[in-house]
Amino acid sequence: MRVLLIVSAFNSLTQRVYCYLKDEGHEVSVEFALSDKVMVEALEVFQPELILCPYLIKKLPKEVWSRVPTIIIHPGIKGDRGASSLDWAIYKEKKEWGVTLLQANEEIDAGDIWATSNFVMPKESKSFIYRTKVSDTALKLVKEVLTKFKNGSFTPIKQSNLEAVHEPLRQDKRKINWEKDSVKDIIRKINASDSIPGVKDELLGVECYLYGATFEAKLKAKPKEIVAKRDGAICIGAKDGTIWISHLKEVGKFKLPATYVLKEKLKGIKEVRIPLWVDKTLQTFKEITFKKEERVGYLEFDFYNGAMSSAQCMRLKYAIETLKEEVDILVLKGGKNFFSNGIHLTILEDSQKQGEDGWSNINAMNNLIKEIIFSEDVVTVASFGANGGAGGVFLGLACDFVVARDGVVLNPHYKTMGLSGSEYHSYSFPKRVGEEKAKEILQNALPISSKRAKEIGMIDEVLSSEDYDKALEKFCQSLLSDEDEYYDFLDSKSEFLEKNEKFIEECKERELAKMYPEFWDEKSEFHKLRYDFVYKICPTKTPQRLAIHKKG
Ligand code: COA
Repeated sequence: MRVLLIVSAFNSLTQRVYCYLKDEGHEVSVEFALSDKVMVEALEVFQPELILCPYLIKKLPKEVWSRVPTIIIHPGIKGDRGASSLDWAIYKEKKEWGVTLLQANEEIDAGDIWATSNFVMPKESKSFIYRTKVSDTALKLVKEVLTKFKNGSFTPIKQSNLEAVHEPLRQDKRKINWEKDSVKDIIRKINASDSIPGVKDELLGVECYLYGATFEAKLKAKPKEIVAKRDGAICIGAKDGTIWISHLKEVGKFKLPATYVLKEKLKGIKEVRIPLWVDKTLQTFKEITFKKEERVGYLEFDFYNGAMSSAQCMRLKYAIETLKEEVDILVLKGGKNFFSNGIHLTILEDSQKQGEDGWSNINAMNNLIKEIIFSEDVVTVASFGANGGAGGVFLGLACDFVVARDGVVLNPHYKTMGLSGSEYHSYSFPKRVGEEKAKEILQNALPISSKRAKEIGMIDEVLSSEDYDKALEKFCQSLLSDEDEYYDFLDSKSEFLEKNEKFIEECKERELAKMYPEFWDEKSEFHKLRYDFVYKICPTKTPQRLAIHKKG
């Protein structure tokens, strides 16, 4: 079937739907909802049988939905209408929320319903709920709708007694009352505003938006008093406790770790350190956690937005260096929102020495990856429980074994950021998929589902999304089930690394030689594309690689 995706951005949900449709053998093209004209033109050229809108914040023109069946994926329960759906659901502490697929018509979210399903709402941030519960439910419903559409016998159900379209959740509602709001209220408001727009406030005279709230169990402070900092986050008081805020966005700028925004205003505030890794249950701001289960160690690195600065790469490297002595299998689990998205683009944009700091970041990343590749006495497993992009994917491919959750989307390419990339990708990627395929994927710069990644040998296994941690544990146990096999594997790994050390290092050196001008030349494409990325500059047209109807 020819399916056109009309979207406001090629975001994670759009990418997941896109990958699913392609995996199923459909012909898929994408058009950004930039103007009525381009959408209508896309229809005329591509002649789609069906239009899906996984992420759309603009009203569609009648010339589109009246000509081709057009289905909107709305992140809300049956009857919910309007923007900020998920924000409102978190704000109002809904126990259950859902996704509804409706046919586009004249009125916003008033179309006939093709499919709908609810899920239990976790007490988490909007981005997390969107990337997990909403995404999984939406995919399930897309499959259902495609079957109904193909059968041709289903008539979508009319919405009777339409609810009113709700207002967007405005800042006056999101605003924190530091004297009155409890820690729980503050976390809920920040969670409801995660990613965009954040909660607007003023801290130490800086007008900014707040993101990334975590409960703190020990430290004490007066309401709105900043009492500590740690790894870029700040600890701030409320009427009944304290919380950490990890990121701030100064009005008119972009999101950064909080200490990068408040800078010298934090003079005198103590850096309250914790060990290099801690237990996951510790109630404080923490990025690296570790859990040992007999011979297997699970190392999680939950860096906000999967972005990894030089300091974060170094901390993770030291953690791996120490922990690999303690276990027979070391599992790198990434974070709950992302496995990793590579080097830290917002910190680099903020830097006064962009060349130097970029260079330091990529070298810190490479040092971390070298530590993983040359871990001779331990078997390493990368667990893509969440999406990964750019260098973050190749961080995972440095491991001996790579598994991914069903539904995870990987973006193993650098081109969209104007980089040729390092992270030993020219060694690890062809080793898994062959030279030709590696070149093709890097060049095409398209997302890949975990299912497709397994088919081409990029990863070893796709594990069920339902009971992922159990499936991961089982996978690790299978690597230990035969003692002789385990030690034979380590022996051949040592032998291979000894023989190929020079070659592996040469791969990295060649990558870095190519990357050098990308960082140091002020006019490089990387600096421009990174600027557009961090300031979220809207594209003026749909990228050619996504719009197959525009090819040729
Ligand atoms: N550095 C800093 N921030 C990053 C980042 C990075 N490497 N990668 C993603 N982010 C941020 C985004 O700005 C966005 O911020 P928000 O909180 O304001 O929404 C958030 O992470 C989520 O990213 P988004 O693009 O919305 O997620 P997605 O799932 O739709 O797309 C990617 C994922 C990986 C395709 C996309 O984020 C991307 O291209 N990232 C850049 C990867 C890269 O080039 N890294 C450097 C080379 S190693």
